[in-house]
Amino acid sequence: MNTVTQPGDIWNIDGHRVLCGDSTTKSIDRLMQGKTVPLLFTSPPYDNQREYKQGSFNWTEMMIGMCKNIPFQDDTQVLINLGLFYRKKEWVMYWDEWMKWMGEHWKRAGWYVWDQGWGLPGDWSGRFAPSHEFVFHFNYNERRPNKIVKSITGGQMVKAGRIDTIRNKKGKADSVYTHAGQPIQDFKIPDSVVRINRQASVGIEVEHPAIFPIPFAEFMIKSFSNEGDIVYEPFAGSGTTLMAAELNKRKCYCVEIAPEYVDIIIRRFYRMFPNSAAILEGTEYNFQEVAQDRGVELPNDDELYRTGTGSKRKEAISTLMEYL
Ligand SMILES: C[S@@+](CC[C@H](N)C(=O)[O-])C[C@H]1O[C@@H](n2cnc3c(N)ncnc32)[C@H](O)[C@@H]1O
Repeated sequence: MNTVTQPGDIWNIDGHRVLCGDSTTKSIDRLMQGKTVPLLFTSPPYDNQREYKQGSFNWTEMMIGMCKNIPFQDDTQVLINLGLFYRKKEWVMYWDEWMKWMGEHWKRAGWYVWDQGWGLPGDWSGRFAPSHEFVFHFNYNERRPNKIVKSITGGQMVKAGRIDTIRNKKGKADSVYTHAGQPIQDFKIPDSVVRINRQASVGIEVEHPAIFPIPFAEFMIKSFSNEGDIVYEPFAGSGTTLMAAELNKRKCYCVEIAPEYVDIIIRRFYRMFPNSAAILEGTEYNFQEVAQDRGVELPNDDELYRTGTGSKRKEAISTLMEYL
């Protein structure tokens, strides 16, 4: 397939940077230009399911290679989404060796569950329908998560009668939560179970097989970075973390090895933020001009969203209906 992007290209798009390259190598130095990040959020390939690289592929080597090249600073938080993987009807701990390595080089700070909504339809060989994945959290030094979740019960329990601002139906004072002598805080830190429905792709999104939802990336970004920060995404896929960064006034520096997926990132960004311009580093040319120069005809994305991609779109819509 002809792609606009070629390996080694860097696209600058509204202050974000997208490298078509291998995040397990020093090539990310060109992307980062000496900058470090407070947050890495990503979803790597799960085990050896798909062949992303030519030749032999070893999951542990890929992960250790990526982690050795993290542009970290003292308070970098590393959040990595992984799902279970089954071989011969048995789940495999494909992350064991990498996790051991992480324990020797980073602090294993947290292990969270991503509740993805209803279980997937189907008969799952005698087990419950999949509806969760994990997020592994590493750091050197802790950083308090931002209080981003609306709080109803944050604070400390106070006995009925001590505060009479909340009354039950019979008019009696109920027990309430409060901070000692202070009003309840409006927001609290997030729970360790992240409840966000899985992605139901439409339009360009159906062209990548493993997209996570934008709100999932937004949740992590809002928890562990501030406006203006750079978020690092070493397995960018269709660019979901990048979209979430733009929506939340952060910058995303990301790496994707497959040129065709980098093209999807740029097309998806254009689609979501129509006034933007992706400029090829080292030139003054934008995505459309580079496409023309390299003799690549761009798909009509407006048409794609209107009509979808035939069966793939139908599939996406029927999956979406399952969850409504
Ligand atoms: C699970 S997908 C990420 C999907 C992403 N979260 C999204 O929402 O679109 C993993 C991606 O990592 C890319 N990848 C695999 N090996 C890589 C490497 N060594 N460097 C950079 N990207 C890589 C794959 O091409 C794939 O698009």
